[in-house]
Amino acid sequence: MKKSLESGVRSPESEERLRAQDSESANSESRLRTPDSRLVVEGVRKSFRNPSGGTLEVLRGVSFEARAGEMVALVGASGSGKTTLLHMLGGLEEADAGSARLDDFEILRAGRAELARFRGREVGFVFQFHHLLADLSAEENVALPLLVARRGWREARARAAEMLGAVGLAARAAHAAGELSGGEQQRVAIARALVTRPRLVLADEPTGNLDARTGAEVGALLADLSRASRACVLVATHNEELARTCDRRLLLREGIVEESGV
Ligand SMILES: Nc1ncnc2c1ncn2[C@@H]1O[C@H](COP(=O)(O)OP(=O)(O)O)[C@@H](O)[C@H]1O
Ligand SMILES: [Mg+2]
Repeated sequence: MKKSLESGVRSPESEERLRAQDSESANSESRLRTPDSRLVVEGVRKSFRNPSGGTLEVLRGVSFEARAGEMVALVGASGSGKTTLLHMLGGLEEADAGSARLDDFEILRAGRAELARFRGREVGFVFQFHHLLADLSAEENVALPLLVARRGWREARARAAEMLGAVGLAARAAHAAGELSGGEQQRVAIARALVTRPRLVLADEPTGNLDARTGAEVGALLADLSRASRACVLVATHNEELARTCDRRLLLREGIVEESGV
């Protein structure tokens, strides 16, 4: 990115961005440059009331940062709160306290309409179960988020086809999603998550429902495409191989996250 900008004609805007990148990433590897977006999470807390009347403190002050083009693994025992945290960052669940900003957008304090817009335009979700609409074609499933965001049908179809090509499923575009294999369905789900070019990608156990080999392929694909998309990517996973593919690893334990290497 930097190289091509340097060799081409620079606009004042790109000059400014490059300067910001240089100062921000002085200590990081060159492939982590161009930090267009930044996710800053501070002191997020969440409790649930359990049926016996007590409260279960799941998140007790979660803080971390992630930047564009970075893929961060979120690991931790089952029940440690990974899904809860991803849901909050995606505007699907309310927090009790704390803040989570994607650039200047405060996710945890946004109103309903703002959040719906944020989810539709800025967030790409990949779940453990693909949640595709079985009777729609692969291409229609991928086009759907663009149609919801009121893009024209023609553009939506064209971009869906392009994304399906990127996940290696061009030949399956017209197949009903329900007829695809588990690995293919998850690749369609990845295409659907990235088709809107979201700034934040949240993947919750994306390989959890796949056999080891298919999981490895799907994990590698998610890593390649989300890095190329330059989104902030957060992947909750038990898959050690996928966690190792990530740039960083956050361990969620006893309600807080700590950096735990790669
Ligand atoms: N809506 C809810 N109501 C009550 N308890 C919940 C709710 N959602 C999650 N929990 C509890 O919060 C804890 C963390 O859950 P979760 O975020 O799904 O963990 P993980 O994804 O790390 O396995 C679990 O003990 C779970 O039972
Ligand atoms: Mg979970």
